[in-house]
Amino acid sequence: MEFKRVVVLTGAGISAESGIRTFRDQNGLWEDHPVEDVATPEGFQRNPNLVYQFYNMRRAQLLDASVVPNAAHQILAEFEAEHIARGGHFTLITQNVDNLHQRAGNQRIIAMHGQLQSALCSVSGLSIPWTNDLTAEHHCQCCETPSSLRPDIVWFGEVPYQLDDCFEVVSKADLFVSIGTSGKVYPAAGFMQVAQESGAETVELNLEKTSSAFDQGYYGPATEVVVDFFSRLMQR
Ligand code: APR
Repeated sequence: MEFKRVVVLTGAGISAESGIRTFRDQNGLWEDHPVEDVATPEGFQRNPNLVYQFYNMRRAQLLDASVVPNAAHQILAEFEAEHIARGGHFTLITQNVDNLHQRAGNQRIIAMHGQLQSALCSVSGLSIPWTNDLTAEHHCQCCETPSSLRPDIVWFGEVPYQLDDCFEVVSKADLFVSIGTSGKVYPAAGFMQVAQESGAETVELNLEKTSSAFDQGYYGPATEVVVDFFSRLMQR
């Protein structure tokens, strides 16, 4: 086994070929809605209904039969199972809030930006599974006085989930693979450097090159470059 402690970071690009829009490409999500309006606590405060609608539209897409894990999601699940069976360590850190890695079968997932199919009690901080539309009329059942529920999404200015766990596994990795992310949003964008400084081999698998700091880079659609890279890794 060439690499024992493997960490994969994914972004919207791995779900693009499943029909889910990315953020900063042509026709990206941020073209329709300024980040400030739909991905900040202030935006939610200002116009909660716009924010509920934005995430309801994205959550509803996950129920569309045509939106399924693609070959890149699938090979990551295969790799995790095989790598762990051979005594390796694997963590999949995703910035994505879709459920495609979960549906593909990965187990060791850190969904650091939250999940569309979850609602958050604004008072207790409890997350609850949620697959349909969420509105201001929905309230929690965990508080004495029921509080309103919000999308369980980590907005700009908020602390990502399990950030300590992320830095822990990244700093111990011997292989760090960044897939389908523009590397523009911290703290995720800083993981590669932490891995590299800890001696990991760093690899970018993306439609386009985002940085020349990676040790290796393979560019093209995720369903090609991710499948190629992890198929070769599993043959070693
Ligand atoms: N295959 C591989 N990579 C792709 C594909 C594809 N089919 N299509 C697009 N990409 C690449 C783009 O080249 C780009 O580098 O995916 C990346 C998508 O970048 P962004 O749209 O910026 O998405 P992401 O990096 O996940 O954004 C990070 O920013 O807006 C916040 O919270 C949001 O989690 C998100 C974070």
